[in-house]
Amino acid sequence: MKILGLSCSPRKSGNTEILVGEALNGAQSEGAEIELFSLAGKEIKPCDGCYACRETGECHINDDMQTVYQKLVEADGIIFGTPIYFYSMTSQAKALIDRTIVLRRPTIRLANKVGGVIAVAGRLGIIDAIKDLYFYIAISHMIPADYVAAYASEKGAIRKDKQAMKSAWELGREMVQLVRKRFEFPSEFEHGLTAYVTDKYKL
Ligand SMILES: Cc1cc2nc3c(=O)[nH]c(=O)nc-3n(C[C@H](O)[C@H](O)[C@H](O)COP(=O)(O)O)c2cc1C
Repeated sequence: MKILGLSCSPRKSGNTEILVGEALNGAQSEGAEIELFSLAGKEIKPCDGCYACRETGECHINDDMQTVYQKLVEADGIIFGTPIYFYSMTSQAKALIDRTIVLRRPTIRLANKVGGVIAVAGRLGIIDAIKDLYFYIAISHMIPADYVAAYASEKGAIRKDKQAMKSAWELGREMVQLVRKRFEFPSEFEHGLTAYVTDKYKL
């Protein structure tokens, strides 16, 4: 079983990376194989909306997202970690999510994976990012694990917050246990979003 932790902060070894790492440590303690992928220093260009992926099943943009695709598909559980930038997830996190549109054809390739969320804010604006990430988990037909909402500003300061560190650890453990339940979204609904859009236009 593989648990992938994505840290979507551009700050290397920052608070998000630390908490995602701690969640992975928790997952490892339950027997999972773990991998931390930090977007710091990586190039994830925005989706350009070309929709070529609908025909080819691939994204034509050649950057670090190509590595992320492979890791996402191979993982049984994915932790989405982001700092809060102006009351929202980082642009790196949003670019990554937008670029996963290619993983929705021919079927939703993230379906049945367990999704966890970690967000770190200095003070304000954490809940909207968490909601956005949960919504993404829902429309990806993933099974949601818990979330960790933590507060820290200076690089590394989150280590002093024992409760946040413990919550992250427990999130990792919980995700492994959820994966073991082998949740399966009914294939009848695998295209999703039909309640909102016509059957001619499926995300
Ligand atoms: C461009 C920018 C915007 C930010 N906006 C917010 C914000 O809206 N609310 C908040 O509480 N903290 C904000 N912060 C603070 C970060 O969320 C905080 O420092 C966090 O710990 C960074 O996580 P990291 O160490 O993983 O990068 C902002 C920081 C930056 C650099």
